[in-house]
Amino acid sequence: MPVASSPGKIILFGEHAVVYGTPGIAAAIGRRCIVSLEISDQEMIESPHITEQTRKAVEIMKKELNINSNLYVKINSSIPLSCGLGSSAALSVALSGAALSLVKRFDLENVNSIAYKIEQMFHGKPSGIDNTTCCYGGAIYYRKPDFDRLDIPKLNVVLAYVKKPEKSTKELVKQVADLDPSYRGPIIREIGNIVEMAKIALLKGDKTTLGKLIEKNQSLLQKLGVSCPEIDELIEALRGVASVKLCGAGGGGVVWILPRKTEKTVEILESLGYRKGIGERCYWKEVIGEEGVRMENGINTQ
Ligand code: PMV
Repeated sequence: MPVASSPGKIILFGEHAVVYGTPGIAAAIGRRCIVSLEISDQEMIESPHITEQTRKAVEIMKKELNINSNLYVKINSSIPLSCGLGSSAALSVALSGAALSLVKRFDLENVNSIAYKIEQMFHGKPSGIDNTTCCYGGAIYYRKPDFDRLDIPKLNVVLAYVKKPEKSTKELVKQVADLDPSYRGPIIREIGNIVEMAKIALLKGDKTTLGKLIEKNQSLLQKLGVSCPEIDELIEALRGVASVKLCGAGGGGVVWILPRKTEKTVEILESLGYRKGIGERCYWKEVIGEEGVRMENGINTQ
């Protein structure tokens, strides 16, 4: 039975703006979604969290690959859902990877292209940055529809899950689309410039510059209206100690934190009521730049 796994991701720089054709940079994280599947008598999905969209994801994958048999699909994920960590992209990528191995057509380009079709069902008109990062891993400089893999040194960051976002990615993308273009345009362009500078800083491992760029990108996201009071509070509390930025659609979810002083950062997080662990109002350490999709039990080519 093919077993594929995909990492989650965080968007380091450029979310929302990336939808308008400026570049974005994202990186794979250590938490993964694992999908196994096989031909079966009955159509069945086993997962701790099944929604109508999970069923639709399987349907799209089957249609794309002309699979007419029933499938038994098992999903397990350690990526918290709907908080900007790419849980849907990781599911799309792992599902495509396992299915492509089943039909002996596994390669990264095929995985990414089918995963994008599934992501469209989840998110409407996604830029493609999420599935591309989960598929290829490491860090990705993405400009619709192309991307480059960035060979960056692994980076230790802290992630904090501020609160469950009140709006979906689709709604937040629409909220930005509804802004007056004469207001939105210059902000998008400025984010694009930050991404170019961040690319250089990431490749050099220049944390001082990165910290400043995180803060600039976050303040532009605030202007786009996709931050939230809880994130703004965290930024204030950590000012001078760490740089904080939302990573994904925003409105809550997870923020990535680049600490200048890690112990002090943790102390402040705990004083604000964040606990060490995974989940809402928790913080944890992550290494970013992890491996992309992989078959856990070899690629089926026979
Ligand atoms: O919240 P996420 O992980 O789905 O990220 C969305 C990123 C956006 O730039 C807001 C949308 C997109 O499709 O790129």
